[in-house]
Amino acid sequence: MDTEKLIEEAYEAKKYSYAPYSGFHVGAALLTAGGKIYRGCNIENAAYSPTNCGERTAFFKAISEGEREFRAIAIVGDKEEYLSPCGVCRQVMTEFCNPKEFQVIMAKNHSDYRICLLEELFPKAFSQENL
Ligand code: THU
Repeated sequence: MDTEKLIEEAYEAKKYSYAPYSGFHVGAALLTAGGKIYRGCNIENAAYSPTNCGERTAFFKAISEGEREFRAIAIVGDKEEYLSPCGVCRQVMTEFCNPKEFQVIMAKNHSDYRICLLEELFPKAFSQENL
């Protein structure tokens, strides 16, 4: 996997972020098992709660195109900070990804990033196995 390429894709995605309320722009790039990349940005709403994070936008685009296996996601924001996905996005990742293999790439900039397994970010998650 080319981590820096995935981060670059996330920065491209961020350009389309719709965040007039928070002013906080997020981009994500999701890598499938087949090597395709789906981009996503956050999409806010005047009613606030319908807001969709960049990570979920990328997932929902990919799932709706028939993708079911994922390797990694890169996430970038406006600040020079490692952007950690929110709890709702972690839950969505848990639905579709192997927590012991799926890599979450949190990027500060194009070359400075941290990689965590989903399992590390979201331990003891509720999943299909609990039903
Ligand atoms: N946001 C994301 O898109 N991803 C995250 O991981 C954290 C938060 C968005 C939601 C909202 O549009 C803005 O950032 C401020 O919370």
